[in-house]
Amino acid sequence: MDTPRPVIRNWRDQDPANSHGAVGWKVMMQLGTNPGRTYEEAPLLGIHGITYRLLQPTKAEPPHSHPAKEHVYYIVSGTGTVQLGEERFPVKEGDAVYMPAQGVHSIINDSDDFLEHYVISAIPHWAEEHPDGDLDRGRTDPVIRNWRAGPPHMSHGAVGWSIMAEKAGFPNRTYEQAPLEGFHGFTMHMMPGGQEEGPHEHVGKEQVYVFTHGRGKMLLGDKTYDVREGDCAYIPQKTQHAFINDGDDWCQHLILSALV
Ligand SMILES: [Fe+2]
Repeated sequence: MDTPRPVIRNWRDQDPANSHGAVGWKVMMQLGTNPGRTYEEAPLLGIHGITYRLLQPTKAEPPHSHPAKEHVYYIVSGTGTVQLGEERFPVKEGDAVYMPAQGVHSIINDSDDFLEHYVISAIPHWAEEHPDGDLDRGRTDPVIRNWRAGPPHMSHGAVGWSIMAEKAGFPNRTYEQAPLEGFHGFTMHMMPGGQEEGPHEHVGKEQVYVFTHGRGKMLLGDKTYDVREGDCAYIPQKTQHAFINDGDDWCQHLILSALV
């Protein structure tokens, strides 16, 4: 078993594949459910997978569902439509689309440009005992939330917006704010040039920083790395980390977290 250690992977360095009708680059996976992969390919423990995808105009993902896997689709650029159950909703940059386990879902590009998005997947905690999804767990509505809908807060030297959180971990939040059943949090951060967060670590929580605009430096463990748009930086629990925006421009990144 490899010792947990930080990993930085950019989708540009991976081989493309056909991913449900889109061009997809699997940026990170879980080793436990992807045997045969290297640690760098599959360092995740709590999050199941992160795939960057480009969906061509006129194409659509075939509608499908998973008995025991939830997704969040995050729209980086472009516009399109998502089908969730019987309904269709327009989506645009900044939208996070929660697709609960067992729900039928599809994404459709009815625009003239590529629809650029991340597919982030997690296995709901209940799935350990109900892998076939045979569990009535109350509400399973889809949710679409744009980071702009929430009030900003200061978070580690950046402006942060909580997009979605875990139902079990945030009992005071509404279903729309906290629908997640497999991973813990999904936030967006904007850091102006010249700012940095203080080095810190988390116990019992892994994180992935997904850089969507800009560049900077990331302290991981005792080393500092260059990071830029398209990078995913995996931070195992108990690993010191800090993001440093040493440029002049704003940097935008998502933080995904899961309890481990
Ligand atoms: Fe799916």
